Formats: sequence, C-alpha cells, structure tokens
Amino acid sequence: MTRSRPLTIAITGANSGIGLRAAEQLASAGHRVLALCRNPARGRAALETINAHARHPATLVVADLSDPGSIDAAAGRISQEFGHLDVLINNAAIFEQTLRRPTCTAAGHELFWATNHLGPFHLTARLSPLLCAAARPRLINVASKGLLTMPRIRIRFDQLDDPAWYSPTRAYYHAKLAQIMVSHSLALRTAGALDVACIRVPAVQLDADRVAAMPGWLRAPYRVKRRLSASTDRLGDTYARLALRPETWQAHADPSARGRAALRGIYVEENLRPVTAPAFAYDADALDRLWAVSQDASGDLPWAW
Ligand SMILES: NC(=O)c1ccc[n+]([C@@H]2O[C@H](COP(=O)([O-])OP(=O)(O)OC[C@H]3O[C@@H](n4cnc5c(N)ncnc54)[C@H](OP(=O)(O)O)[C@@H]3O)[C@@H](O)[C@H]2O)c1
Repeated sequence: MTRSRPLTIAITGANSGIGLRAAEQLASAGHRVLALCRNPARGRAALETINAHARHPATLVVADLSDPGSIDAAAGRISQEFGHLDVLINNAAIFEQTLRRPTCTAAGHELFWATNHLGPFHLTARLSPLLCAAARPRLINVASKGLLTMPRIRIRFDQLDDPAWYSPTRAYYHAKLAQIMVSHSLALRTAGALDVACIRVPAVQLDADRVAAMPGWLRAPYRVKRRLSASTDRLGDTYARLALRPETWQAHADPSARGRAALRGIYVEENLRPVTAPAFAYDADALDRLWAVSQDASGDLPWAW
C-alpha cells in the first residue's frame, strides 16, 4: 500500500464480509475510516473489530442505502464532521435469494434497484463536494464476475421498477451492470478530476453468520460455493490496494480512442488488472440515459462536477 498520508475513506456495508475486511485493513494502515452501516448495533460491533488495530479510530455513520432520507442524513453528518473525503467505496449491496417476490421501497422503487444502484448513486452525489475538496479523490464501485455469463445484459429502461421481469438474480445483476455504467459516466463527466474504478468481484465466501441465517434450502448450495470462493480477506486487500494505489484508471486507457479503449482501466478484476464489461456498459447513449433516469429517480441531485 503506497500512500503514506492518512486518507479519509468512507466504505458502505463496513459491518460484514469484504467491506469489514477492507475497513480493517485500511484502518490498520493508518487511514481514517468512515464505516457506513445500516444497522447501528451491527455497526458498533464492527467498529470494535475495525478499531482493534486502527491508528485513527474509525467513525460509525448509520446509512440505509434503500432510504434516500437516511443517505441525506449520513452525508450531512459526514459533511459537518469532515472537510473532505479522499475515497468513497460503494460496497454495500443486497443479494438475498429469499426475496422471491419484488419488494417496493417507500420511495416507490424495487428494492435491489434502490439499494444497489439508486442508493450508491445518491450517496456519491451527496458526497461529491467532499470528494471535490480532496487532493486526489477516488470512487470505487462494486460489480460482479457473474456478469461474465450475461454478455448481452442491458438496462431495462422502460421497466425499471416493473415486477414483470423480476427475479432476485436478474434484479441483482441489472443493478450491478448499472454500477459499471455509472463508473464509466462519472469518469467521462469528471474528465480526470475524480479517479473512478469498479471492481469485478468474483465468488467470495460469505460470513458464517450470514450463511447460518439462511433457510435450509439455501445453506446447502452456499456451503458448496464456499469451497470454491475467495476469502473476504483477499478481496478486502483488493479494495485497500485500489483505494491506495498511486496510479489512476487513465494509466490503462487510450485517450485518443472511443468506447472500450477510452474507458479501459475503470473495470478491474481482483488483481486490479483491467477487464472488459458487458457491451452495453460502453454504449454512450445508454450511459446518458441511465444518468438521466437515475437523476430523475433521485430528485435531480446537485453534483460537484
Ligand atoms: N460474496 C460474493 O460472492 C460476491 C460476488 C460478487 C460481488 N459481490 C459484491 O461484493 C460486495 C460485498 O459483498 P459481501 O460478499 O461482503 O456481502 P455481505 O457480507 O452480505 O455484505 C453486504 C453488506 O451490505 C450491507 N447492506 C445491505 N443492504 C444495505 C442497505 N440497504 N443499506 C446499507 N447497507 C446495506 C449489509 O449490511 P447488513 O449486515 O445490515 O445486511 C452488509 O454490510 C457487494 O457489493 C456484493 O454485491 C459479492
């Protein structure tokens, strides 16, 4: 980990899995971690773990990404207490296979779309003035290697909250595609002022308590999956290395090109090597349309760029 100056780093879903391991690694390397968690009790328990080897005590910020009001409150608190933010890691996501029927949030959005796409979009906008105030701001979004099996996946612009096509798996990957696309859009919109990355996370072991809380029919496949999956420490290390590395995505891109070559370096695998996203994630019209519908759904958020 190459940056020595203590950075201020916010990470969502810092109370479990990869987010917790990344928070621990970054705090023990001397950085100020803001642990964004939706559940205060789980957040406080995580803080004890994170702070066990931290040089600067981490701060717990309660934020439910499915609730725009909660995001606004969290961003307001961070803005009051911190003058800038060096890195935002949008790690939190739901992928509960038990949600066999679509659930609608109070704001009227399907829960996976609200939590895994609109929530991080809203949080990033709200924190953009603080990122703008950092010397070398960086945004890290999180997608999934499972998208490799869906090279033709598209955003269903006319059916965003429509239950007709819903399954938890479809809704999950749909929102993960959006994470790559928002990363591409922000890289283009900020023209180098913000370093942007999106990690293609492979299969990773879930924490034992999360598996234990599953119904029996899900526990068995998850136990098999566990044997084939990377450890949370391994991916926590990926997040931490990406948060701290000196180079930006542009080291891999061809600025004179368009499409994939121009955006190369934003979407990376667990060793931080650039990888190719589904084709739709490079479609310029689709990037603009996703931005517009996300802004519309979020109430035309003000952005710092
Ligand atoms: N594990 C894998 O195989 C895998 C594969 C590909 C991609 N990924 C991605 O990697 C990231 C981390 O996953 P993980 O494996 O570490 O899973 P995890 O242990 O289940 O962590 C998910 C985190 O997201 C939080 N979260 C869920 N809904 C939230 C909400 N509404 N508001 C705020 N926080 C919320 C959870 O909080 P609670 O504890 O309160 O539920 C938890 O802290 C996710 O983006 C996931 O999609 C994982």
